[in-house]
Amino acid sequence: MVEAPGDWLERLAHKADLRARAGLRRELRPRGTGDQVIDLAGNDYLGLSRHPMVVAAAAHALADYGLGATGSRLVRGSTALHAELEAALAALLGTGATLVYSSGYLANLGAVRALVQPRTLLVSDAYNHASLIDGCKLSGAEVVVMPHGSVPEAILRDRGDRPAVVVTESVFSVDGDLAPLPALHAACRRYGALLLVDDAHAVGVLGPDGAGGVAAAGLAGEPDVVVTITLSKAFGAAGGVVAGPAELVAHLVDTGRTFIYDTGLPPPVAAGALAALELIRAGDDLRGELHERAALVGKRLGGVVGSEPAHVGYAVSQPDAGVVSVTAPGPEAAVAWAAACRARGVAVGCFRPPSTPDGRSRLRLTVNVGVPRPDFAHALDVIAECAP
Ligand SMILES: Cc1ncc(COP(=O)(O)O)c(C=O)c1O
Repeated sequence: MVEAPGDWLERLAHKADLRARAGLRRELRPRGTGDQVIDLAGNDYLGLSRHPMVVAAAAHALADYGLGATGSRLVRGSTALHAELEAALAALLGTGATLVYSSGYLANLGAVRALVQPRTLLVSDAYNHASLIDGCKLSGAEVVVMPHGSVPEAILRDRGDRPAVVVTESVFSVDGDLAPLPALHAACRRYGALLLVDDAHAVGVLGPDGAGGVAAAGLAGEPDVVVTITLSKAFGAAGGVVAGPAELVAHLVDTGRTFIYDTGLPPPVAAGALAALELIRAGDDLRGELHERAALVGKRLGGVVGSEPAHVGYAVSQPDAGVVSVTAPGPEAAVAWAAACRARGVAVGCFRPPSTPDGRSRLRLTVNVGVPRPDFAHALDVIAECAP
């Protein structure tokens, strides 16, 4: 039977209705310049997106280079700023080389693909970010999902002579907990596998000079470790990075589809990220403040720290980095809780399935040290008072 021209739209409307009944509709909320909301939802951990030095660097580059990169990196989209940023990132992360992408999502797709050979087994943490999951799927390799936070000793030991890559985040984006990087690396080394770590939520936040979770674990520059980061979080900018040995970067430049067929990062963003990098290096005070505030979330909202439902207070995740989650009774309750906070001027993240790997709904709070201290404390009071 031939469908009428509008049938597919009816199907989509029906699906939207089902999502609405399950409490799973999503809404865009554009913010204006006069936005007064206290932000505990964004990823601007160190408050650098509006730092005067970052803004000035971006403004200069805008005047010097124009708005867009005007082409893919291999055509006209590489500027001196991109080269300078890549060198500075390699120095910060302690890797042989880095390659800047227009987003962290594309960096992850490219990194996973580059590490896959014929017969490779990918071993992926169950809570990995969608970009790593999609990278694994698009690579065409066989994927084994390991339990969250585990070390896949047996999988690596029993895989025979197949190449293997273990894929994990360092700080997980939903609960902010840490992967067991030293144990993962030891297992990879023992069984001849590579370790790919997405350091998106750790760079700027953890490690010496903010070099990230891989550096904090003492694994920077190891030849069997590849790191990805995004510039959209602690850098307050946008863009993604693959960091590793120079041979890997050369391979990506020659063959990486998400690098080659994508317009380069806009030069003003590269310049802003470069200025942010210097502030990150010198940002021990900011990191100290961030960790104090993360601990405060647990003290103020959690009666119980950990992943089990709380008897007193709420179940609050371990405040290891800048992300802390607070469990909600269900998707509708999470949406209502976040809406009540917003009505009182506090923005919090609201995570529901399918964005939560375990099906639990929660508020996700991110610490932004750009928020004045009294406002941060007030925001925690509002969250507690609005609880379901
Ligand atoms: C862990 C993780 N990896 C990758 C990304 C993707 O980065 P980007 O937003 O730069 O595409 C994100 C979030 O956005 C993330 O949380």
